[in-house]
Amino acid sequence: MHEQIVSESPLVIIGHGLQEIVQSTIQDMQPEQILVVVDENTHKHCLPLFPKFSNYNLLVCPSGEGNKNIIQAQQIWNELLHIGADRSSLVIALGGGVLCDTVAFAATTYMRGIRFVLMPTTLLAIVDASVGGKTGINYSGFKNIIGSFREADAVFADLDFLQTLPKREFVSGYAEVVKHALLQGDLSWEALNSQSPQSLSIDDLANSIRYKRSITSADFNEKGNREILNLGHTTAHALEAVFLKNEAVLLHGEAVAAGLWIESIISEMHFPESTQAWISQLRALIKAVFPKVEFPMSSLDDIVNAMRNDKKNKNSETRFSLLRYPGHAEIGCTASSEQLKSALKEYLENA
Ligand SMILES: NC(=O)c1ccc[n+]([C@@H]2O[C@H](COP(=O)([O-])OP(=O)(O)OC[C@H]3O[C@@H](n4cnc5c(N)ncnc54)[C@H](O)[C@@H]3O)[C@@H](O)[C@H]2O)c1
Repeated sequence: MHEQIVSESPLVIIGHGLQEIVQSTIQDMQPEQILVVVDENTHKHCLPLFPKFSNYNLLVCPSGEGNKNIIQAQQIWNELLHIGADRSSLVIALGGGVLCDTVAFAATTYMRGIRFVLMPTTLLAIVDASVGGKTGINYSGFKNIIGSFREADAVFADLDFLQTLPKREFVSGYAEVVKHALLQGDLSWEALNSQSPQSLSIDDLANSIRYKRSITSADFNEKGNREILNLGHTTAHALEAVFLKNEAVLLHGEAVAAGLWIESIISEMHFPESTQAWISQLRALIKAVFPKVEFPMSSLDDIVNAMRNDKKNKNSETRFSLLRYPGHAEIGCTASSEQLKSALKEYLENA
């Protein structure tokens, strides 16, 4: 099968060779102007596979998390002004999560919101960043602190784009697929657990997107159960914050994989009665697929402090979404600093 419709409204399609569908859908939207935004890598690798529209405007942005900022949003607003864009116009993001988040933010704020289409080109953006309507930029040292909730008018995930994605980036995106399978429950978890990242099928990816959509549509503005998607992420964000200071490269999915491992230890502490088979399966999978995140023992206090500063915390307590077992996550779980340090140490010794 070449493609799957994951959702009719808004239209979300995943598959190979989606040029014709993209072209006809966009023609049906009848935009007065089209602005296509790429970064320097997707300009080189992905734009050649983009449908041959005769009249679109192109904006090339610098790549990387450091450019997910107000300056980049301003460049998009400036370009929209320059081409005379109005509410009949359309913006298309062709890139990874950084570009999708920034373009979506710029489009939802220009003239109080114009139409935008996401064409995610990384595995992470396909299964996560392009799903669920969170737009945003980093500001004043805080990640995703300025943003909005609004779904794209359409999402086209053309898997042909992944051919040029560096392997390290591909594997990083796989961490979110693992997270969705754990949250989804036994059937998805068992199926995923017996395969490798390279053997993911369109069905597997569509299933992962569908699962995330089911959670985000039920709690679009994240007032409740959407928080279960934070599994592994309280720890991941803390690791990312500490690595940012050291200027060492740590990809988001690599931090999430370590976060899933470390939070499985916290789950064991929290739910000692729950079945443990999934925990050893998860650790074996992480060990086989992801690089170990090396942090010095001397940084444990910094990591725990960063966990305490997570923006999802309430009343200065660190909040975790923890698994009792696959398919059964609980939100708002807490842990003491001693428990957190012991989980971090156990990861360093055994991962
Ligand atoms: N909105 C959400 O719900 C949500 C969810 C998860 C993550 N995110 C955000 O996503 C971002 C991370 O996204 P990412 O992992 O896709 O990183 P990214 O966008 O930085 O892309 C990774 C690298 O791959 C390059 N690239 C992209 N596609 C390529 C291709 N097909 N071939 C070759 N190179 C390619 C990019 O230029 C970049 O250098 C973070 O900012 C994170 O906050 C958002």
